[in-house]
Amino acid sequence: MRTEGDTWDLASSVGATATGVAASRALASLGPDALISDPYAAILVKAVGVEHFIRVADGELDFGDDPLLGSRQVCEQIAVRTRFFDDLFRAACADGIRQAVILASGLDTRAYRLDWPAGSVVFEIDQPSVIDFKTQVLAGAGVLPAAEHRTVGIDLRDDWPRALRDAGFDPARPTAWIAEGLLIYLPPDAQDRLLDNVTALSAAGSRLATEHMDPKALTGDWARALTERNRRYGSTVDLTELFYTGPRTGAADRLRAQGWQVTVQPSTQAYAANGFSPPDDTLMRMVGDSGYLSARLGETR
Ligand SMILES: C[S@@+](CC[C@H](N)C(=O)[O-])C[C@H]1O[C@@H](n2cnc3c(N)ncnc32)[C@H](O)[C@@H]1O
Repeated sequence: MRTEGDTWDLASSVGATATGVAASRALASLGPDALISDPYAAILVKAVGVEHFIRVADGELDFGDDPLLGSRQVCEQIAVRTRFFDDLFRAACADGIRQAVILASGLDTRAYRLDWPAGSVVFEIDQPSVIDFKTQVLAGAGVLPAAEHRTVGIDLRDDWPRALRDAGFDPARPTAWIAEGLLIYLPPDAQDRLLDNVTALSAAGSRLATEHMDPKALTGDWARALTERNRRYGSTVDLTELFYTGPRTGAADRLRAQGWQVTVQPSTQAYAANGFSPPDDTLMRMVGDSGYLSARLGETR
């Protein structure tokens, strides 16, 4: 059960979900026909040491012909997701943005693996033990950040804007923000505050990418069904205890009200844009029109 101010490491509670996503990235990075290239995901998953996730990362877990969790489907799903957030940063860099923030960075390795232009600074925010673990493991493996890299270990329900500024963030410069796999783990009011804080820290021209959640995905049924399905293959993560379900203001509505131009790409379109078909599965239908959200802050608000 979630509580105000709860904490975790990468093997427990919400932290384990970061390891699970990294295991999928490691799997999708395997072999000559790899759909993505995250060369550090496997190193990180192995360092966390949870057997189930190591087997996923190594491609050793047999999901049979599960229409959602089979290897091919997992690789396509994570490729769609990874490319979407990679593209936000690539496009922002191409347009001259040199300040990036990864909210809830978990085991994200973009600060290390993307081709950042000279002068770029990448901030990462997550709980202290998550940030410290990743930074230390990669440093120990001799992996260097590909941009100026500043980590901010703080809970995103706390006063993270102050911590970000203290780390050298400049709100006068346009920023590219991503919040990948985060919002469902925040209580509704904390999501509102997070988006309001992002807006307050965003100079004109800033960009943001996150997930778009169909209210259907927030009922709790989906968390239950997905947890049960994952359990068949040995996962012990209980999403019903980790998600904040129930009504919340949609991120798109909140951002639009504050002057952002918001584009929502439903999953079906995101799959098609990558040449894939969405999984034909009841769990996929349960999330309705969920997908990906990108937003830009214009010159005038
Ligand atoms: C599903 S993982 C996603 C990690 C990463 N963005 C990715 O997609 O690989 C969720 C992440 O959100 C972080 N997180 C959730 N709630 C948080 C909070 N209140 N404060 C800081 N980090 C939080 C967790 O620590 C975890 O790293």
